[in-house]
Amino acid sequence: MAASARVAELRRLLDDANYRYFVLDDPAIPDVEYDRLMRELLELEAAHPELQSPDSPSRRVGGQVRREFAEVAHAIPMLSLGNAFSEGEVADFVRRIREATGEDAPEFSVEPKIDGLAISLRYEHGVFVRGATRGDGSTGEDVSANLRTIKAIPLHLRFPTEAGQGSLFAPAPPAVLEVRGEVYMPRSAFEAYNQRARESGGKVLANPRNGAAGSLRQLDPAVSASRPLAFFAYALGEVDGWSPPPRHSQVLQALRGFGFPVSPEVDTASGLDGLLCYFDRIGRKRESLDYDIDGVVYKLDRFDQQRELGFVSRAPRWAIAHKFPAQEQLTTVEAIDIQIGRTGAATPVARLAPVNVAGVVVTNATLHNADQIARLDVRVGDTVIVRRAGDVIPEVVRVLPEHRPAAAEPWRMPTHCPVCSSELLREEGEAVWRCSGGLTCAAQSKEALIHFASRRAMDIEGLGDRIIEDLVDLGFVESPADLYRLTLDDMLRMKQLSDQRDGTTPETVKSGKIATRWAENLLDAIAVSRKASLPRFLFALGILHIGESTAKTLAQWLGRLELIRHSPEAVLIALPDVGREVAHSIATFFEQDGNQQVLDALLAAGIVFADERSPSPQLHERLTLAHLLGQLPVDKLGGKSAQRLAEVYPTLDALVAAGRDNWVIAGLSVAAADNLNACLADPTMRERVRRDEQAMRRVLAEAPQDAVQGGPLVGKTFVLTGSLSSLTRDEAGARLEALGAKVSGSVSKKTSVVVAGEAAGSKLDKANELGVEIWDEAKLLELLSRYG
Ligand code: IVH
Repeated sequence: MAASARVAELRRLLDDANYRYFVLDDPAIPDVEYDRLMRELLELEAAHPELQSPDSPSRRVGGQVRREFAEVAHAIPMLSLGNAFSEGEVADFVRRIREATGEDAPEFSVEPKIDGLAISLRYEHGVFVRGATRGDGSTGEDVSANLRTIKAIPLHLRFPTEAGQGSLFAPAPPAVLEVRGEVYMPRSAFEAYNQRARESGGKVLANPRNGAAGSLRQLDPAVSASRPLAFFAYALGEVDGWSPPPRHSQVLQALRGFGFPVSPEVDTASGLDGLLCYFDRIGRKRESLDYDIDGVVYKLDRFDQQRELGFVSRAPRWAIAHKFPAQEQLTTVEAIDIQIGRTGAATPVARLAPVNVAGVVVTNATLHNADQIARLDVRVGDTVIVRRAGDVIPEVVRVLPEHRPAAAEPWRMPTHCPVCSSELLREEGEAVWRCSGGLTCAAQSKEALIHFASRRAMDIEGLGDRIIEDLVDLGFVESPADLYRLTLDDMLRMKQLSDQRDGTTPETVKSGKIATRWAENLLDAIAVSRKASLPRFLFALGILHIGESTAKTLAQWLGRLELIRHSPEAVLIALPDVGREVAHSIATFFEQDGNQQVLDALLAAGIVFADERSPSPQLHERLTLAHLLGQLPVDKLGGKSAQRLAEVYPTLDALVAAGRDNWVIAGLSVAAADNLNACLADPTMRERVRRDEQAMRRVLAEAPQDAVQGGPLVGKTFVLTGSLSSLTRDEAGARLEALGAKVSGSVSKKTSVVVAGEAAGSKLDKANELGVEIWDEAKLLELLSRYG
């Protein structure tokens, strides 16, 4: 292509991108692509001076002014910064400065480059009078009303009471002080905003920068005010009636004194090494900051030196932005596959043409779920923007529909699992489709096994993802129970097959020995895991919605696996922090035939629990007929009246035998009595309550009762902290609870006793502070032994 044609094309592309970015707030291409096109244009224009033109996008700084806001002319233009993308480019910058200043290690103010919107704030005689966007650099938009809603922006200048760094302007504030900086949306505010938007079905923001831009350009300041923005100052504009100190870093200090927020990360550094060291430091900190940054800015610190260097057309020669590698890149979608997770969740994944994003080659990006694909309208063949931030899984941010091939079809969720061909189903109101194959699905069983063996679950050392994949793929293992049937022979054969398949490892005597030792160790680790702890085992089963803490609750309250697995939803829901959804998920898991078989097989394989015990005596308070009545769909039957009724008629039989009229005599309202009567007249409903009642009794029959009435520790709250040597904290907690005590995780004024083990930390300090009684382990053991 002739240079002139390419220049014309680049100008069109850049103009278009500028318009979308600055005017519509709807960027079409990622910044990195924009920078690349701009560089190409600048290079071509430099090489072909005859092609230069005053209206080229290379000649201006930003977009156009919007019609809706008043225009504001910037007395001192708001400039842009040159970019450096490599250490080499920073070295060139430092060299130019060294040559111009004659200094060996010139000093710089070094600052994070905040990814928000540049703003100029004008104060006259100490009072905020106007704020404007950068616009095209010489004319911006008056967004004062919206800026006033930002709490970080002072409406009056503060008056420093002590002289400092030349910043003193007493007795009067400067006639004019323009402060420039960046308005941004803190990440935490962005997350919270989107969370609320998702819950209320509102529009989510694409990223914090768009959030800030969108808010500032709201014509209604009330809308702007509902989106929490913040501000960091980084430069001066017009100044009259104040002599700024001689260095930029001192000006920032003075700005703090005037009441402006300045990023706490700003610093000074000298020479190339100093700059690169800062770049590294901020790069490492980047993810932990509450605001997005896309690089750092180096500014020559001394104003006299800045003046010597001056400006090129768009930017100062004395400053440069050192950009982080772009986190967003363009690529194309080659396929959309479905990945099946441990709980059967079917996650669509985009297979991408490989692209380097911030130093990592990305070939896959999550599309989250079918709804997300529909929202983005991603199709195979599409050009998309992928984003990778920190440890986050790469994701597709947006599609560029203008690059869509004509034949691209809308994507549809498949109806069947790509691994086991079972149907994919989705529960009402859920975004996630799940494979209905359960553990018969190889994908699910692999993930389930990986979870089962993992550190926080059964902790089987050496049984990693690769081995599990081989064991499943080569047909040795389907469910966790199969692990316990593996023989040395199986393991060696599996290893041999997998080596053959991968074309590795020659068969030598030595490698044979190594393989045997490896297999023996692994089998040992599997065997050791037979002696399990109940909460870990429950967690290891991978029941949907059951994390470690719910697993602990189940074990602590119900005590034995047999009770847990046969408890209906109505009983489970009585446990603390177990809601309807969780109870449903547990009960459904244990009801499924496949899961029952796996569980029986695991028990038959010799899994035993060291920590099974009686159910908690406190269940007597929770598992009453009133609790079951509370689960029924009966209008007007409040918790209190159900309680009163169950006190008079504590069993279903007694209740039914008494009949509606007696319920009213016992204090039930007529309406509630009628509704309850109608409900229990339904035979299936009554049968359900009867079954639940029986299950409840089975549990209660095992729960010690006297402890509840006469429990020596009723009304006492214990907190256990530090490590105990003769029993675990869980065991100690369970025994205290069995004696009627409440065991809590945090110390407060209501705590009766803190038991402090080895290396107790902040909880012990807090106990001391509040004057709470403190025991050591010996004292605890003495108490426990007293009550057997
Ligand atoms: S100084 C004459 N300092 O970057 C130099 N700019 O590409 C004026 N930015 O429009 C800018 N953080 O929106 C400066 N610490 C910082 C900055 C910063 C972010 C933005 C600002 C400016 C753009 C220049």
